[in-house]
Amino acid sequence: MVGMDATLARRLAGDLSIFGPSDARVRGLIGDPAADAVLRGDAAPARAALRSAPDDPVAALARLFVLGDRMPVAAVAAALLAIGVDGAALLGVLRAEGEHVVPLVAIRPHAFDDGAAGWIASDLDELAGVFPLRSDHVLGVGGAGRTLAAMLPPEGAGRALDLGCGCGVIALHLRRHGYEVVATDVSERALWFTRLNVVLNDLDGIEVRRGSLFDPVAGERFALIASNPPFVVTPRSDGVPQYEYRDGGATGDALMAQVVSGIVDHLEPGGSARLLGNWEDGPGGTGLERVRGWTRGLGAWVIEREHLDPVRYAELWVRDGGTRPGTREHDTLVEAWLDDFARRGVTGIGLGWVVLAAQTGLDRFERVAQQVDPAHLGAHLATALETVAHLGRLDDGGLAASVLQVAGDVTEARHHVPGSDSPSVIELRQGGGLGRTIDVDPALAALVGACDGELTAGVLIDAIAELLEADAARLRAELLPAARELLFTGFLSFA
Ligand SMILES: C[S@@+](CC[C@H](N)C(=O)[O-])C[C@H]1O[C@@H](n2cnc3c(N)ncnc32)[C@H](O)[C@@H]1O
Repeated sequence: MVGMDATLARRLAGDLSIFGPSDARVRGLIGDPAADAVLRGDAAPARAALRSAPDDPVAALARLFVLGDRMPVAAVAAALLAIGVDGAALLGVLRAEGEHVVPLVAIRPHAFDDGAAGWIASDLDELAGVFPLRSDHVLGVGGAGRTLAAMLPPEGAGRALDLGCGCGVIALHLRRHGYEVVATDVSERALWFTRLNVVLNDLDGIEVRRGSLFDPVAGERFALIASNPPFVVTPRSDGVPQYEYRDGGATGDALMAQVVSGIVDHLEPGGSARLLGNWEDGPGGTGLERVRGWTRGLGAWVIEREHLDPVRYAELWVRDGGTRPGTREHDTLVEAWLDDFARRGVTGIGLGWVVLAAQTGLDRFERVAQQVDPAHLGAHLATALETVAHLGRLDDGGLAASVLQVAGDVTEARHHVPGSDSPSVIELRQGGGLGRTIDVDPALAALVGACDGELTAGVLIDAIAELLEADAARLRAELLPAARELLFTGFLSFA
């Protein structure tokens, strides 16, 4: 792949601003059901609808760059007015074939979390009928990338590292949030796409470097490190396809261990990291226990979102590579995965999120299976890190002297055994945060209910003790640690 021509890329960005197949424009042309089918990986309804708008330049670019269709030169030329078909061929995004052009990349709309509309170029994929994927395939924006983007702090300053940038989507989000970004990848092809996407989205302040893991940033430190690393556990046996985008070539979860354990040498004081990952349960302990060993004294909050047995894990990644059940290839690959797990004594695999923070004393390893609204996830994680650092500086006397407030998204549900006056279960639920539901006793429910930002926690606990005819000192010893947990998880905040 030749170098990325920024002048041509800027012309393409200009054309996309006029005729680019944005989500809104495409929905306007083909309707919501066909547009939603594209998101599920089914291009047929969209293709049929777009064919009925042959003279529309938006439809031409949608078919070419979103669906990956071969298109008449004239239709594409009418949409690429600034760059032209020849310029687009020179840039490397399409190839002319007689009276037709074929796309060499996908260029799809992307909504940033501040509402800005952008474009992400990546390799053509299954949606465009490309299978099998090339081993250096550069991934577009998938579920994992979207999740990591949602985990980022909404605002930042200083330098951020995107390790394993792929098409650059995380680097672009970090830049829009205010960081100066270094984006790294082993793949020259990935870096080409990142450079292209920087220009297509009219950004600067993103430096692109090639190299493995932390090699390109040796001796450097960052305020934030983000990574969706190639964490997929893959058997190292003949005939198993190796994809650079999802598998770093190591055995088991060794690459994940390298990434997590390398972070401590690259975080500034007060800095933090957000990662996605997979970890194995095996002879060395459960996955969560093993991740704790990799964190090397950094404050760590590891959230296991899913836990799969080896069979489910093998099926997931064999299918992700495009191999369908019922084929001989599928069976061979599943067997290779299961042999690898059996040989190394792996009994389960955790999939989840890692948050690391210097100087917080955070030490939390948990399973969170419920749905989490991505809209406020990044803000929730950032606030939790600030809260845990603040709580670390606050003894119980300081906490008792603090004024607390119940969060606006918290509701209480009381469950009664029929005929009984007092509830047998009291639940507190949060709408945001990690969508947690917790059981509380009447004293804690009373404290949370009374935290209206006026009286200190200590005064409230003493009043509750009097009401319940309980020992005030004992109740403080019970409720203050509970209040710490509720502050961290976002049910309460400091007023
Ligand atoms: C799962 S993709 C993530 C892409 C993008 N950041 C996203 O979230 O969509 C992982 C990326 O890591 C890169 N990679 C693989 N091995 C690597 C290594 N040893 N060091 C750095 N990057 C690596 C791959 O080329 C790929 O682009």
